Amino acid sequence: MRLKNKIAIITGAAAGNGRAIALRFAEEGCDLAISDINLAGVQETAELASIHGVRVVAMKADVTSRADVETMVSEAVTQLGPIGVLVNNAGIFFNASFDQMTDDQWARMLNVNLTSVFLMSQTVIRHWLAANRGGSIVNLASISSSIAFTNSAHYCTAKAGLLGLSRCLALEFGPRGIRSNCLAPGIIETAMTRPALSDEAMVADWMRRIPLKRIGQPRDVADAALFLASDESRYITGDTIYIDGGWMVE
Ligand SMILES: NC(=O)c1ccc[n+]([C@@H]2O[C@H](COP(=O)([O-])OP(=O)(O)OC[C@H]3O[C@@H](n4cnc5c(N)ncnc54)[C@H](O)[C@@H]3O)[C@@H](O)[C@H]2O)c1
Repeated sequence: MRLKNKIAIITGAAAGNGRAIALRFAEEGCDLAISDINLAGVQETAELASIHGVRVVAMKADVTSRADVETMVSEAVTQLGPIGVLVNNAGIFFNASFDQMTDDQWARMLNVNLTSVFLMSQTVIRHWLAANRGGSIVNLASISSSIAFTNSAHYCTAKAGLLGLSRCLALEFGPRGIRSNCLAPGIIETAMTRPALSDEAMVADWMRRIPLKRIGQPRDVADAALFLASDESRYITGDTIYIDGGWMVE
């Protein structure tokens, strides 16, 4: 019950890492406000989380829309109470070579993966400041925040931006008891990586780079999110935890 009496907002919780984080938090007694553009998926996550006896509110919300974000946060507070944890998990990935990339592809990647975190974090921080409360923000960055991948300039830029944003929030709001950290997963088996995981040559190349010699699972990410959300990480802010099987050591 490491999150007992806490209330968390988790975005992109219909599947993958977001669903795993929601279920892991529920196991530890956390009440949840979970959202996604995929309403059926997030409702299914809510049913699974409720089995653990916690209160769950599932909402359809697009994290790129300020109106959706503000409605989501005020609904969460009204229905559950003061928020203690924000997990900025919603994200997208698609390949695009830099010379062919359209304005729309660039803008969409930056909006969903970076501007959304500005909107969500600002809205929740305003709520914390008004209530004179602290809290923990957990951002889903990536090893792509720190190293380059081909056909991924838009994704790497957005994910690198998260590290900078997270550090600035840690600095600016640390004195108010607000912490902000990043998780940087390597390759985790979700819908996002499924197409690449069916490419044997690519998987073999990844295996050469991963000292722990396996692809990550959403539960690996969820356990690290639990630590950053809980009071066990109370003296950690502005930092990044890599969940990559050791990929980044070389
Ligand atoms: N899977 C990996 O290997 C990996 C590695 C590093 C980082 N990440 C990050 O983890 C996070 C979760 O990814 P995942 O692998 O679980 O992928 P996923 O595709 O399984 O889940 C992403 C979820 O985000 C939701 N979403 C997309 N756009 C949205 C929007 N505008 N508003 C609200 N929700 C939206 C989707 O509907 C989906 O449910 C992402 O931020 C991703 O960049 C994943």
